[in-house]
Amino acid sequence: MSLSLSADRPAIPAVADDGVWLECIECGETFAPFDAVRYTCDECGGLLEVRYADLPTFDDFEGQGVWRYADALPLADGVTTQEGATPLYEVPRLEADIGVEALRIKHEGMNPTGSFKDRGMTVGVGVAKELGVGRLACASTGNTSAALAAYGSRGGMETLVLLPAGKVAAGKIAQASLHGARILEVDGNFDACLDIVQELAEAGEAYLLNSLNPFRLEGQKTIGLEILEGFLADYDAVPDRIVLPVGNAGNTAALYKAFRELVQAGELDEDDVPKLTGVQAEGAAPMVEAVENGADEVRRWDDVETRATAIRIGNPVNAPKALPGIRETGGTAVAVSDEAITDAQRDLAGEGIGVEPASAASVAGLRKLRAEGTVDDDERVACLTTGHLLKDPDAAAAAGNDPEPVPADTEGVLATLASESSPDR
Ligand code: F0G
Repeated sequence: MSLSLSADRPAIPAVADDGVWLECIECGETFAPFDAVRYTCDECGGLLEVRYADLPTFDDFEGQGVWRYADALPLADGVTTQEGATPLYEVPRLEADIGVEALRIKHEGMNPTGSFKDRGMTVGVGVAKELGVGRLACASTGNTSAALAAYGSRGGMETLVLLPAGKVAAGKIAQASLHGARILEVDGNFDACLDIVQELAEAGEAYLLNSLNPFRLEGQKTIGLEILEGFLADYDAVPDRIVLPVGNAGNTAALYKAFRELVQAGELDEDDVPKLTGVQAEGAAPMVEAVENGADEVRRWDDVETRATAIRIGNPVNAPKALPGIRETGGTAVAVSDEAITDAQRDLAGEGIGVEPASAASVAGLRKLRAEGTVDDDERVACLTTGHLLKDPDAAAAAGNDPEPVPADTEGVLATLASESSPDR
């Protein structure tokens, strides 16, 4: 199987351009990377992956941020706003409370537009320039649209975003708007938006920059490479487990690919690959359902709902790449309630780390799996937090303390301070 951890290094096909090509994960058909716009396999419609003749080693990486990993990417540089190099925070109280050997938070909300999407866009928009396409487009629960708008405008390209009406957090719409995207609010959920954008892309109306685009996932691989380098520096070992929120399962697929390439390059022992552990909200958990049932395919959920609007997704399009990742690494997937997500958002905030609800799902999932005994107390774990608190100010305000009105005099302020503090959350 081409997506197994122990797959042989691929033979280099004639279509390779400078040692880079696209390969179908289903039928193995290969394509030149930059000769035409292509998102899926011409032969069977399967998902495509970028493949390399030369796989890089840790020694090849230099500099900071996503482009530190240029040797693991399809281009030498892209359209950049200095993405990547995000913090890997220590959280001693949370670590002790959840009860694991080590817990670190990889806070992707610290990227330029406040989410991990920037890592994919610096590569994806760079490829769009290489291909010479005009309009860029995506469907989005918000963060992709913010990143596409920013990177598209930086690259001097037109951008179009389709959003589920009424279900996108305020900060994200504000970003897409100010960065100059044309914003279409669709009377339907994210999955319906993606269906439409795919049809627009197939009709040649726009270049698709959702995570179906294999180049975007290359940029997102760098999350995994940074986590591994951070753990190697601090613990002289890679993490036992990486826990991450799952929507379209793009990150799950991207991290798994990063690890497979390191195994193939002889840089990482197959037995040491971190267990990929996906977390979804209970109201939008088709991946969890598939993992729990041992299914090879994910059933599309038509009705999805969660406070974590970023992962309000019923049809995880990267499941064929991500399911093998969860299984081959010995990971799992778990669903958490909206209440548990908000609790985890407060826990992180209590350590000074501000995240949006979807991001907190990783910590909520870890807590649940630790309580169930699926995660052992001797594990070293990295939780991915994917987006910044300010992305969804309404959710943050609802989860936090209410402001208290006071008169404009010190006596009145003192009287209020003397009264019962902290209204109920
Ligand atoms: N966390 C956040 C904050 C997200 O915005 C997303 C996806 C995910 C997690 C899920 O990541 O798809 O790689 O499993 N947001 C997309 C968007 C769908 O349009 O912004 P995944």
